[in-house]
Amino acid sequence: MNNFVWQNRTKVYFGEKVVDKHLSSLIKEHMTPGKNKILLGYGGGSVKKNGSYDDVMAAIAETGFEVIEFGGIMSNPTLDKMLEGVEIVKANDVGLILAVGGGSAMDCCKAMAVQAAYDGDAWQDFWMDGKEMLIDPMPCGVVVTMPATGSELNPCAVLTNTETNIKCDRGYPKINPLFAVMDPAYTLTMPLRQIKAGTFDILSHVMEGYFSDPAGYWATDDMMEGLMHGIIRDLRAAVKDPTNLEVRTSIMWAGSLAENGFPKTGKKLDFQAHNMEHQLSAFSNCNHGEGLAVIHPTYYRHIYKDGLPKFVSFAKEVWRLNPADYESDEALALAGIDALDDFITELGMPKTLRELGFEDKSQLKEIADSCFISEGAFRPMTAEEILEIYEECF
Ligand code: NZQ
Ligand code: ZN
Repeated sequence: MNNFVWQNRTKVYFGEKVVDKHLSSLIKEHMTPGKNKILLGYGGGSVKKNGSYDDVMAAIAETGFEVIEFGGIMSNPTLDKMLEGVEIVKANDVGLILAVGGGSAMDCCKAMAVQAAYDGDAWQDFWMDGKEMLIDPMPCGVVVTMPATGSELNPCAVLTNTETNIKCDRGYPKINPLFAVMDPAYTLTMPLRQIKAGTFDILSHVMEGYFSDPAGYWATDDMMEGLMHGIIRDLRAAVKDPTNLEVRTSIMWAGSLAENGFPKTGKKLDFQAHNMEHQLSAFSNCNHGEGLAVIHPTYYRHIYKDGLPKFVSFAKEVWRLNPADYESDEALALAGIDALDDFITELGMPKTLRELGFEDKSQLKEIADSCFISEGAFRPMTAEEILEIYEECF
């Protein structure tokens, strides 16, 4: 076990009609004293179909505050979009930023809250250089409409700099939203493709923490095994019946549990599959969860011998394979990775870079060279091995 500090400042309101019940008082509580304007950040319009926009506007109306809309936050939000939002925040003397949507809307708004309160270049100083964050970001809260990233309950905001082709997921505890309002009913309008991609992202978040040292006895590894088993069960059930609100509710909370930091306490943390996916996304704008589905099995076949006991436990506890059916620990570990691979096939998710939109291999070396290396991996990758993985995934 590694020493750790645990804290999470986000207050969660989860369940039926929580926006109606709590949002207006949360806005009043967190509005900057002396100000009365809310910047409402959202994506391409799904909020107007799933009911969240109307509910949020009604809650804001109750407060008497003024709302300034900032729509069009794209999937894989760009640094430019974040800076555009900051201009609007500053020009209007906004006192609270409210994101409504999935990870992209939340991340863009969380980053805006930092840059709006900072005189320097937040991207360079915090995302690129990882400097200590001495400022307090502006107040920022979120209303979640899609489970996937866990952004509602974590300190990360992932942005893409389209000039340098760098997608970076730097996190600071001060970036955690002040509050997260989560009504699972909003998720019912998600297309099946997003249900699969988002839930695979959730599974990936747990796997990335699980497959890192310590690899022996550790309480939160036990939690993660149960969580992974449940996520796989729920995703199968959601694909079978996307209208089942109980299942979708379970997935929504699993998304927050997976990436709020708590299950990963004491772990070194691998994030290499994410780092490899982020750069694929920076160059191609591919879907995050789908990119992860392509990467994970191949990456794990590269590193399983370096963390064999955990890959054996993954096969036994998550996929419930019987060790007696396998002649060695290695065979059992590989069967666990095969089960993950088969699950992706069963879901009909992309399995190759071609399916993500890559037409040839010409950019793969440049993409591999630009990947961040995760030191918490069982074995840190080199750019050469990342290129091998990309080529095997092609
Ligand atoms: O843009 P709109 O119209 O809102 O549509 C979105 C978008 O097209 C749609 N959607 C959201 N809620 C919906 C819905 N459609 C129908 N009904 C609903 N209720 O879904 C699409 C995807 O939304 P997006 O927010 O882009 O997806 P996601 O939540 O997967 O976020 C992806 C971004 O988060 C980053 C990813 O890299 C990517 O940039 N990540 C953020 C993390 C974090 N903050 O901790 C960690 C993750 O590992 C990840 O890197
Ligand atoms: Zn992710």
